[in-house]
Amino acid sequence: MIKKCLFPVAGYGTRFLPATKAMPKEILPILDKPLVQYGVEEALEAGLTDIGFVTGRGKRAIEDHFDVSYELEHQIRGTGKEKRLDGIRQLIEQCTFSYTRQSSMKGLGHAVLTGRNLIGDEPFGVVLADDLCFGDAGSGGTADGEGVLAQMIRLYHQFRCSIVAIEEIPADQTHHYGVIAGEALSDSLFRVSTMVEKPAPEAAPSNLAIIGRYVLTPDIFTLLEQTEPGKNGEIQLTDALLKQAVDGGVIAYKFAGRRFDCGSLHGFVEATNYCYQRFYGETDPPTVARFDRSR
Ligand code: UTP
Repeated sequence: MIKKCLFPVAGYGTRFLPATKAMPKEILPILDKPLVQYGVEEALEAGLTDIGFVTGRGKRAIEDHFDVSYELEHQIRGTGKEKRLDGIRQLIEQCTFSYTRQSSMKGLGHAVLTGRNLIGDEPFGVVLADDLCFGDAGSGGTADGEGVLAQMIRLYHQFRCSIVAIEEIPADQTHHYGVIAGEALSDSLFRVSTMVEKPAPEAAPSNLAIIGRYVLTPDIFTLLEQTEPGKNGEIQLTDALLKQAVDGGVIAYKFAGRRFDCGSLHGFVEATNYCYQRFYGETDPPTVARFDRSR
């Protein structure tokens, strides 16, 4: 059983300055819920209840969010506003939260390695909370659709190796992503043979980009220890994954659902409009006049 999920949240979020100057990017809300809460809900839906955060300076708000606020609870007890905390209360009851600090920002691979003491020697999920993911409505037999991480955990039990989520991207976007190529096992599954971090379009092995959802086997930690700084002088998770892929140990999965890059302004706005439609059934963004403040 996979129980643990790592959230690397130490990054500076420079694409969202000045909003992220004093506030973690992961606390930015889509509608009325912080990005990181969507991520933890997805992990819980996949059965992962041990949540580990790799944090950094200025990220205290994340710890406070996943803790009880007694003054606030007291203040709104018995009022209609109490139900607004139902979702976060359930997460606090059903999950455990642990934290460790990445003292210098040496890249995503280094952040995952920093989380080793929270994970130990077992397979685990990784969620990059600024990638907001939703399963296709109706997939997995539920009205809301099976979440992307839940889809990947199922695949882990089938293949027993690392699983990375991928999606097709426009050719001119490859320099933002790790890009894979491999043997197609089906329309949505590839056994990865190569992957390149942030390639120029002409150097990209395909248009299949890794997004912020992973299931990793614990040998990744030793491989990360042995990984030299790569692109941008950072320890790249992609470089360690490539070492696993050499032995056939990485499956790439074109997930059923939607993903929004909420670390970018465009993706953030798109996600906001999508969620407003999906959760409130509204097609147009609200105007001040008709926005129902009770929701
Ligand atoms: P990003 O590439 O999105 O970097 O990191 P960032 O700093 O968060 O955002 P920008 O590009 O400056 O706007 C991908 C994920 O890896 C984490 C980030 O928190 C994010 O979830 N990360 C990255 C770390 O935890 N530590 C690092 O050293 C680098």
